[in-house]
Amino acid sequence: MSKIAIMGAMPEEIEPLLAKVENVNRIEYANNSYYEATYKGKELVIAYSKIGKVFSSLTASTLLEKFGCSTLLFSGVAGAINPELKIGDLIIADKLCQHDLDISIFGHAFGYVPEGAVFVESDAGLREVAKAVAHKNKLSIIEGTIATGDQFVASNERKEFISTHFQADALEMEGASVAVICDALNVPFFVLRAISDTANDDAGVDFDEFMIGSAKISANFILDMVESIE
Ligand code: ADE
Repeated sequence: MSKIAIMGAMPEEIEPLLAKVENVNRIEYANNSYYEATYKGKELVIAYSKIGKVFSSLTASTLLEKFGCSTLLFSGVAGAINPELKIGDLIIADKLCQHDLDISIFGHAFGYVPEGAVFVESDAGLREVAKAVAHKNKLSIIEGTIATGDQFVASNERKEFISTHFQADALEMEGASVAVICDALNVPFFVLRAISDTANDDAGVDFDEFMIGSAKISANFILDMVESIE
């Protein structure tokens, strides 16, 4: 049977999953914990990576290469750029980019390095599954661009930069690196985020207040999707 990887960046992003799955078996590998589990007859491997592009790349690679997962779902929180996104709202990434990747001094676009691409697209089939789950549960969900970087954004100036150069709807710190790994290894992936803040001056305070609740909203939605994934 195919194995589905579900990853987050922080403990709070996977704890709601671990509370609901069954037959949990923890495996220690590469300074991290991986949880094999089952849910509604599906085999899962769940892990949180730690924050940022490097740790999330390591965890995504491990889930695919060591644990043999054939689909990867990312669940977590994000800062909103699109003003339609309010705290607790869900966004699914149709494409992702690295907003802090910058060799523009050599005439390249922000987010581009030779032999790479500015945007990596997520799996359209998994996005359709998400839309069907949203419809079934009468939840509204936005599909848009997610920008990733190794920085917690808490300024309108940086938000503007990311909005102007990438037309991104939300930002976070792991999605695009996971996307690059899955794309390179030809594994379908999906990134879901619930909004915890709006990446402005108040972002730190909002994040502390809303992160746990938003992480739960995202995790519960991901588990609803698992049933419909082959
Ligand atoms: N994840 C949630 N909010 C964020 C922010 N403001 N910046 C980066 N990552 C985030």
